[in-house]
Amino acid sequence: MTKSGTVLAMASDHGGFEMKEFIKEQLIAEGYEIKDFGTNSEESVDYPDMIHPAAKAINDGEIERGIIFCGSGNGAQMTANKYPNVRAGLCWTVEQASLIRQHNNANIISLPGRFVSFDEGLAMAKKFLSTDFEGGRHTRRVEKINKILK
Ligand code: RB5
Repeated sequence: MTKSGTVLAMASDHGGFEMKEFIKEQLIAEGYEIKDFGTNSEESVDYPDMIHPAAKAINDGEIERGIIFCGSGNGAQMTANKYPNVRAGLCWTVEQASLIRQHNNANIISLPGRFVSFDEGLAMAKKFLSTDFEGGRHTRRVEKINKILK
């Protein structure tokens, strides 16, 4: 992805707020434009209230990629993955951040604000943004994700 002019969605609850602010500042310095869906303080909030609007913007094609956070990364990821055009991957390592792009064509990375350092979170966000989907056999697999059984 080119940085200049690229708009990214970011959203968190209180558990991911500080990491969101840290990564947002670094990415803005690199030329990304950020649409921040909140939260805007460490006050306790419910993660779906911020994650739903960010995920909807990506689901609707208004924004290409997003970086979301909560304390563990789980609630944020679960909320985002309710949208059919969203593929959100929860990551704890840089290798996972690469794999969710290479193999899963993820358009959202979910980061655990309370379980990795800010620098680790930033490294994962950058890897997510700079890694391409491999296609090939992974295209077939990704296409099957939404084929739920009835
Ligand atoms: C908030 O305390 C915490 O539950 C939330 O940030 C997240 O970890 C939920 O999955």
